[in-house]
Amino acid sequence: MIRKTIIKSTLLVAGFALGMQAQAAPSAEMLSYTCAGCHGTNGASTGDAIPSLAGLSSTYLVDAMKAYKADERDPTIMNRIAKGYSDEQFELMGGFFADQEVHKNRDQSFDAAKAAAGKKLHKKYCDKCHTEAGTVGDDDAGQLSGNAKLFLQYSLADFHDGSRSQEKKMKKKMKKMLKRDKDAFDLIVNYYVSGKK
Ligand code: HEC
Ligand code: HEC
Repeated sequence: MIRKTIIKSTLLVAGFALGMQAQAAPSAEMLSYTCAGCHGTNGASTGDAIPSLAGLSSTYLVDAMKAYKADERDPTIMNRIAKGYSDEQFELMGGFFADQEVHKNRDQSFDAAKAAAGKKLHKKYCDKCHTEAGTVGDDDAGQLSGNAKLFLQYSLADFHDGSRSQEKKMKKKMKKMLKRDKDAFDLIVNYYVSGKK
C-alpha cells in the first residue's frame, strides 16, 4: 500500500515534469522561484546569512553564477545550485533580479558606535567603487548596505585569505584600511548592517 502510494506520487511528479517540458522553456520569473526559498521573494532576503539578490546588476549576478559553477568562489551551497543551469538561464535570472528594487534588511542588530566608525572607513576606502554605501547595482560590485551580516563577514574573510578573488585596487584599499585599524572588518560590517547611507 505504502509502496503503491510512493510509486503513484513518483509518477505524478514525473508526469508533471513531462508536462512542463512540453510547454515553453521556463521564464525568468519561473527560474527565480527556485531561488526564493533561500534568497527571499524576488531576491529580498530576510535572514542574516543569505545575501539579497534584488537590484544586483545582471552582469554581477551572471558573473557570480559562472564563478560558482566553475568552483572559483568558495561557497557552502551555490556551486551545486549553479551547476544545474545554463549560461542563457543565468542571463534570464540576471535580468529578472536587476529589475527588482534593492532590498535592505533592517532587522539585524548592530553596534551604533562601531557603525559610525565603519562609515568613515567606507567613505575613505570603499565608496569609490561601492557608491551610496554599496547599493547601486550599476557598480557591478554586489550589495553592501542592508545585506546579510554573516554573508558580509565571510565574504570579507574569503577575500582576505584569498579563497575569493578580488580586484587589485580593492585588495590595496583593504590592506590600507586594515593597517589603519585592525578591527576594520568588524566596524565596516556594523556600518553595512545598520542599513544607513
Ligand atoms: C539552498 C539555499 C539557496 C538556494 C536555493 C539558492 N541560493 Fe544563492 N546563495 C545561497 C547562499 C548560502 C549563498 C552564499 C554563498 C554560499 O555560501 O554558497 C548564496 C549566494 C548567492 C549569490 C552571490 C551573491 C553576492 O552578493 O555575491 C548569488 C548571485 C546567488 N546566490 C544566486 C542564486 C540564484 C540565481 C538562485 C536560484 C537559481 C539561488 N542563488 C538559489 C543559498 C541559496
Ligand atoms: C576598485 C574598486 C573597488 C574598491 C576600491 C573596493 N571594492 Fe569591493 N568590490 C569590487 C568589485 C568589482 C566587487 C565584485 C567582485 C566579484 O566579482 O566577486 C566587489 C565586491 C565586494 C564585496 C562582496 C559583495 C558581494 O555581494 O558578494 C565586499 C564585501 C566588498 N567588495 C567590500 C569592499 C570594502 C570593505 C572595500 C573598502 C575597503 C572595497 N570593497 C573596495 C570593487 C571594489
